[in-house]
Amino acid sequence: MTHSHSPTPELDKSRAHINPLTVKGIDHVEFLVDDVEAWSDFYINKFGMYFRAKGDPSTGLKGRKAYVVGQGRINFLLAEAAGKGPEADAIRAHVKKHGNGIKDIAFRVRDAGAALKHAQKEGCTVVRPLDEHEVFIGATIAAYGDTTHTFIQRKRHALFAPGYVNIPGGIEEGDIQFAMIDHIVANVEHMDEWVDFYARVFGFDQMAHFDINTGRSALMSKVVGDDGSYIKLPINEPSSTNSQIQEFLDEYKGPGVQHIALLTPNIIDTVREIRASGVAFLEVPDSYYDENFDQRVGEIKESKEALRKLGILVDRDRPDGYLLQVFTQPVFDRPTLFHEIIQRRGNSDGFGEGNFRALFEAIEREQAKRGTL
Ligand SMILES: [Fe+2]
Repeated sequence: MTHSHSPTPELDKSRAHINPLTVKGIDHVEFLVDDVEAWSDFYINKFGMYFRAKGDPSTGLKGRKAYVVGQGRINFLLAEAAGKGPEADAIRAHVKKHGNGIKDIAFRVRDAGAALKHAQKEGCTVVRPLDEHEVFIGATIAAYGDTTHTFIQRKRHALFAPGYVNIPGGIEEGDIQFAMIDHIVANVEHMDEWVDFYARVFGFDQMAHFDINTGRSALMSKVVGDDGSYIKLPINEPSSTNSQIQEFLDEYKGPGVQHIALLTPNIIDTVREIRASGVAFLEVPDSYYDENFDQRVGEIKESKEALRKLGILVDRDRPDGYLLQVFTQPVFDRPTLFHEIIQRRGNSDGFGEGNFRALFEAIEREQAKRGTL
């Protein structure tokens, strides 16, 4: 096991405050799935999300039935094919090729027209040209694999999008608390190509670099993002043929989103509740919590017993901060997308680098069960 962590704050200081796309944050993430009702039930009943909006051909959507579920600033748009026509066929083809998965990461921007113009100047492929509605102005460009990025400039915040009806929200209650997306991880074939893409198109800086090798399976990862809009996008590439990243590329049939990390202010209550609802997490060996744990993480606010019971991992990424995290089993049929639940304490800004080994070993145990190692 080797790894190196090289935050590069000196890298490209000149670009630190340039935000050519005027990105303000992540608006929503779009999933293309085989069964919208089943998968929105999953996020509502097991992840404590709220049903926020829905649409189908009867409300004005073309070729799709879609539900929006979310909590805090998180919005998941789940869509399935409905009826005939090119829009429905495109969804069916995506689900057939990739299985259920993520099609689009939509960014909220101040000026969608300017964002698209800049992206075009940088040579991006335009998937959907600028489109103006009474709710928003939007445009979509191609990213890694069949994944796309939409720019959304919202004009009125009352509606999710044209063709959707809002579902009146209940009062948020319960022990599962999510505030926002902490990071979204991509698995690609050539990491540097996409690090360059996010630098040129988005003006994102490289925030960290990891080189992980457990001896049996390996990956390289670079994190790009923007402090101002709280966006962090780690990008992985496989560095061995039996790497979990390679397994993803094989199973998903190309590059795509590997995991979405959801930020919670209370990981113990949140994970206890989600576990009780039957969601399966990666197993953590009991030995993870032996004396090495105390030495590695130092003093923490949480009871180690509570963490051990729930299989919550801890990484001290700064002298004045640490993070707590868990990883779910793959959500869908194929071993592709999973979720991370993360809580940050103090000035934590890492990704669980110290837990990479634990995560890797856990994933490899799963791989071994499936016979791919
Ligand atoms: Fe992560």
